[in-house]
Amino acid sequence: MHLVIALDGPSGSGKSTIAKMLAEKYNLVHIDSGAMYRAVTLYCLENNIDPKNETAVCNVLANIDIDFDSKGNILLNGKDVSKKIRENDVSNNVSYISSYKQVRLNLIDKQREIGKHSSIIMDGRDIGSFVFPNAEVKIYQIASAETRAKRRHKQNINSGINSNYDAVLENIKMRDYIDSHREFDPSKPADDAIIIDTSNLTIEEVISKCSEIIDRKLKELDR
Ligand code: DC
Repeated sequence: MHLVIALDGPSGSGKSTIAKMLAEKYNLVHIDSGAMYRAVTLYCLENNIDPKNETAVCNVLANIDIDFDSKGNILLNGKDVSKKIRENDVSNNVSYISSYKQVRLNLIDKQREIGKHSSIIMDGRDIGSFVFPNAEVKIYQIASAETRAKRRHKQNINSGINSNYDAVLENIKMRDYIDSHREFDPSKPADDAIIIDTSNLTIEEVISKCSEIIDRKLKELDR
């Protein structure tokens, strides 16, 4: 059975952690679509392309090859950049890059192509609303900005990335605003997505809620 699970939500809502665990449980390929926008941002920063200059960014898209290896690491022109794309410089600029229509269409093509060939769980902002409008399961995770900033701050420290809680909170609020107000394909829950507020839930509790939704769907598809 071919299955697409869309797991969307704002920055720090816990999507990637949950998606990784669900991928293992249900034997699905996990694709972190945010990592793709981050990789384009990293390319621009490393090549002195101003992330706020839409024309300049779109002009270099043809030079950027993004792929995932079998362990789920993201490759930018063949190089593993999984760690580099989490650095502050990338986080501070990714919302500009991901607001450009041409960038989005380019990466969305890639995301749809991956979904054609494998059963996947893809996390992002627009997976259920735009990339895979016919996804079998659509979940949208939310959490307060403060909870999300705490999680991101802890994650940064654990990964050895320089982190300041107030700066992380400010960055999250700024990205929430830009991501949900961009003209083309803004970040929003699909009309038929199931919303889960993870603010006061443990990872195990979120997994259990998501599993209930997925199991119900699998039973329905089996009938
Ligand atoms: O989930 P994240 O913080 O790694 O995402 C990085 C940025 O990419 C985020 O600010 C918005 C953008 N993004 C997007 O516009 N659409 C997606 N499907 C995934 C991420």
